[in-house]
Amino acid sequence: MQVFSGNSTRAEEPDMNTQMLHRIHALELGPMANFVYLIEDLRTHRTAVVDPAWDVPEILALARERDLIISDVLLTHSHHDHINGIEELLRSCDAQVHLLKPEAQFWGHYLDIPTLHHGGDRIALGDTEIKILHTPGHTPGSACYQLGDDLITGDTLFVYGCGRCDLRGGDPEQMFWTLKDMREKLAEETLIRPGHNYSVAEISTLREQIAGNPFLHFDDLQRFTQYRMHYHDKHRDEPYGPIAKGQEMPA
Ligand SMILES: [Fe+2]
Repeated sequence: MQVFSGNSTRAEEPDMNTQMLHRIHALELGPMANFVYLIEDLRTHRTAVVDPAWDVPEILALARERDLIISDVLLTHSHHDHINGIEELLRSCDAQVHLLKPEAQFWGHYLDIPTLHHGGDRIALGDTEIKILHTPGHTPGSACYQLGDDLITGDTLFVYGCGRCDLRGGDPEQMFWTLKDMREKLAEETLIRPGHNYSVAEISTLREQIAGNPFLHFDDLQRFTQYRMHYHDKHRDEPYGPIAKGQEMPA
């Protein structure tokens, strides 16, 4: 198990009153190197667990150690390796579960009164505002969670990689448009916090990813699809490192 804490976001006012609003703690858990994130609102200690899986006692131990009050659970998507601790966690704390409506429909497993969201919705966690982005491609209702400069990306975007599109509900065309949107609309300082530790770095800026992530280099849907569905897995091994633009695969 590995633990690290990320940068906190500052309030947007560019004055002397800038204030740290949240802190992100990460646990690397399970045989697939999943990252489980705990988002702590610094004033209230209210905490959201993102993708509770594999080792709930570790999640609870970290919460206890840091005096965190788990009030919310955020799901990036419904694959087993991201949700297999949810019921055990909910037996220990009365948390509100959030996911996108299209993911709940895809999953077909409605928990006790989850809060179903649409892309663009915002969740208040104490003073911390979390924006939900709908980022289909890996699954129909995959979500990324944006907190200031931090972006928790699940299996949509990895450091120097992206999620598979060949599993049930996956769609390389949707992934192409999702990644194009992220590339064009998010600030380059955005800090990518992925759902798995598959790469040479645990976190990375969007700027670094635009330069070195092959999945962010394609302007052509057919070439992207060819690369994602047929080329990538045969030609790259973990840990993923940067690839220069134009070097993804032969023309
Ligand atoms: Fe997944």
